[in-house]
Amino acid sequence: MLTSRHLLGIEGLSKDEITAILDLSETYVRQNRQPDKHSNALIGLTQVNMFFEASTRTQSSFEIAGKRLGADVMNMAMAASSISKGETLIDTAMTLNAMHPDLLVVRHPHSGAVALLAEKVNCAVLNAGDGQHEHPTQALLDALTIRRAKGRLHRLTIAICGDIAHSRVARSNMFLLGKMENRVRLIGPRTLMPAGVDQLGVEVTDNMAEGLKGADVVMMLRLQKERMDGGFIPSTREYYHRWGLDSTKLANAKPDAIVMHPGPMNRGVEIDGVLADDINRSVIQEQVEMGVAVRMAVMDLLVRKSKKPKAIYV
Ligand code: NCD
Repeated sequence: MLTSRHLLGIEGLSKDEITAILDLSETYVRQNRQPDKHSNALIGLTQVNMFFEASTRTQSSFEIAGKRLGADVMNMAMAASSISKGETLIDTAMTLNAMHPDLLVVRHPHSGAVALLAEKVNCAVLNAGDGQHEHPTQALLDALTIRRAKGRLHRLTIAICGDIAHSRVARSNMFLLGKMENRVRLIGPRTLMPAGVDQLGVEVTDNMAEGLKGADVVMMLRLQKERMDGGFIPSTREYYHRWGLDSTKLANAKPDAIVMHPGPMNRGVEIDGVLADDINRSVIQEQVEMGVAVRMAVMDLLVRKSKKPKAIYV
């Protein structure tokens, strides 16, 4: 059970809640590897996915997760919705709310928009990424991937590299990995570090060789060009030369270090394509697999708490 009715970020979760989510996810990993992937945890419930930003893996992952739990899943085509006719986010949410959904899964380009929406509706709200703020299920799926690869989720050295400033993935991961007592290092150009980075309780460097030294996990991030309004980097060629991960730079990390990336990847910008596909080092495909299981676990825990389907009929 989770103490909050919504999942808006990792910041509000306790260490025990994180562990409970990951433990339940393991059950769903096993279920998802069976020919019959169905359960009835969300049977009779309605899940609405509202994605105001482009998404491939997160949206499909939430859709598959909901369907495997037995929910009725609706994907709102936001570009074709009344938002494009000038309706506000809140009016759209209120309209949907009147249809009695049980769960809204929301992605929005503005930090805080999902929390605002959560205040206006009666059902559980799950943040699928809000601006530069948080992307909790991504951090949870990353944590599950790390725990399975390393056998633990504490006392690891984890390097998060690249465009930290614009990354909700980095923020949620910093919260989660910090709560679980890991050593987090941020590596990237100073221009791509968030304001106040020195107060975050993490190590910061702009030197890849130095930052990767002794790392158990190397997490690469995409350059979020859509969130940049000026010259944050000299050129993508120069960026790749200094901060792009290839096998030469990776040699600074521990010999068994794993390579992660939330996707979508820009091959040859933040990561070498051959390394990304190297199944001995890269766990990028496992991250996608864990994503479905983690989302099933989170939705199960959230909705199980806020509404038990059977209670409606007794
Ligand atoms: C990330 C996101 O949307 O924040 N992608 C994802 O959810 N898998 C990272 C990104 O867009 O670079």
